[in-house]
Amino acid sequence: MPLKIAVVAGSLRAGSFNRQLGAALASLAPADITLFDVPIGDLPLYNQDDDAAPAPAVQAFKAAIAGADGVIFATPEYNRSIPGVLKNALDHASRPYGQSVWAGKPAAIIGTSPGKTGTAMAQAHLRTILAFLDMPTLGQPEAFVQWSDDLVTADDRIGEASRAYLQGWMDRYAALVRLHAAR
Ligand code: FNR
Repeated sequence: MPLKIAVVAGSLRAGSFNRQLGAALASLAPADITLFDVPIGDLPLYNQDDDAAPAPAVQAFKAAIAGADGVIFATPEYNRSIPGVLKNALDHASRPYGQSVWAGKPAAIIGTSPGKTGTAMAQAHLRTILAFLDMPTLGQPEAFVQWSDDLVTADDRIGEASRAYLQGWMDRYAALVRLHAAR
């Protein structure tokens, strides 16, 4: 059965390293799994007063996540946590109460930063949020990826130096997705 994985990048920056990394993961996906980008930049700031009549961008975002068999979060670290734009997206799709579209979707977390400790704290925070949202999340291997200009090739593939490691990461995540899809 073909499976569809949403890729949510936690950065709105045009040249985002994390969006580039998230997109390039498609080159590692096995034949039965397709990755698709779900943008978060059009979402308004979450306001609980709007729960009864969510904006079209919110409805489209929730529909995209609802239609996915899993979600990969490719996120930078901002001030030792996740960017506000990503938390905003997580909050939107968790509401109204009882109508979260996250629950049960197998998740994986990856992040890249020019710094050596890149994204470890943000990933730890995101893991806590995903646990509350009831998303079974890939535990190992972890993927704290230091950005370098050869991480993503000109034709949007993972560069050779990181390919074997990230292929292993993808294969473990694919197994988690298949496990949950079979339920
Ligand atoms: C950063 N950056 C950063 N990096 C890091 O490793 N830990 C951190 O806590 C922070 N904090 C932080 C805050 C803010 C507001 C910005 C704009 C940046 C640097 C960050 O890793 C770098 O800008 C990445 O390139 C951001 O990811 P994208 O946008 O390239 O995907």
